[in-house]
Amino acid sequence: AKLSTSNAHSKIILAGEHAVVYGKPAIAIPFPLKVSSTIERSRGNIIFESDIYTGFLDDMPLQLKGISNCIKQILNYLNKPISDLRIRIISSIPIGRGLGSSAAISISIVRSLFSFFGQKLTQKQLFSFVQVAENYAHGNSSGLDIMAELSEYPIWFEKRIGITYIKNQKPLYVVVADTGNSANTRVAVENVRKRYNDNPEKVQRILNKIEQITIDIKKALLKGNTDLVGRLLTYNHNELVNIGVSDKFLNKLVEKSLKAGALGAKLTGGGLGGCMIALAKDIEQAKIISNRLIKSGAYQSWYFSTNEDIVM
Ligand code: MEV
Repeated sequence: AKLSTSNAHSKIILAGEHAVVYGKPAIAIPFPLKVSSTIERSRGNIIFESDIYTGFLDDMPLQLKGISNCIKQILNYLNKPISDLRIRIISSIPIGRGLGSSAAISISIVRSLFSFFGQKLTQKQLFSFVQVAENYAHGNSSGLDIMAELSEYPIWFEKRIGITYIKNQKPLYVVVADTGNSANTRVAVENVRKRYNDNPEKVQRILNKIEQITIDIKKALLKGNTDLVGRLLTYNHNELVNIGVSDKFLNKLVEKSLKAGALGAKLTGGGLGGCMIALAKDIEQAKIISNRLIKSGAYQSWYFSTNEDIVM
């Protein structure tokens, strides 16, 4: 029987999260954790199979409602009945930890549905169908996650302007650690908004600093000055602390990374739980830092080089 399988990958925000919501730039890099979705024919109601939920599309739990809406919109768009399909998701991206699992699942589903029905899919269509699911899950998202997950290269992103690719001169050795606490991006974004409304001058100053750091990181990447990239990542973390989106455990993992010799470290994504990243000088040091973070209580950790695939 006919099958269509498509993949998508995860992402990490290197710099500029939260500020990006206010029109500032952000830098994101692909993170080689993958999700694949497979479509095949079945009879009757659409069946959705995944680690977190298996059952009819119509009974999807709230956290997956955005995805079921997205699937229905695509089938309507393609003039296909909302039935007679089985959609199977296999994902290595932890859910709700700021690694963009929801956008990645949606991307793989949109790709596999279009390919199953033999339809051409433009990047623009892909983006707008995934945005349907993302807006449902996160409120008004900047679109950064989706753009980062559609790219094989590091990107420079500005809301409503779009992306440019950053061809960094040297590979980066990146450690990612999961606090094990779920990240509530929506709450984190709302908290920043409240602070902004209470004290616009102060928050604007922090956002401007994050913007300058992000610009400097791009320059350092283009020059291949990885040491400087590292120091700037830590500055970015400190500004995220000032804006109220870090927590004790994220700060602890940042400290431990620096003690273990990291070039720099910061939380990544929405904060208030979720994940942090550290930059290492080579793959051996990345492994050491990753192990140290696990010893310090991280729930799981990965390390990879931006020119190779993932090591766990
Ligand atoms: C979340 O991955 C990134 C934030 O900047 C929110 C957004 O861009 O929509 C915190």
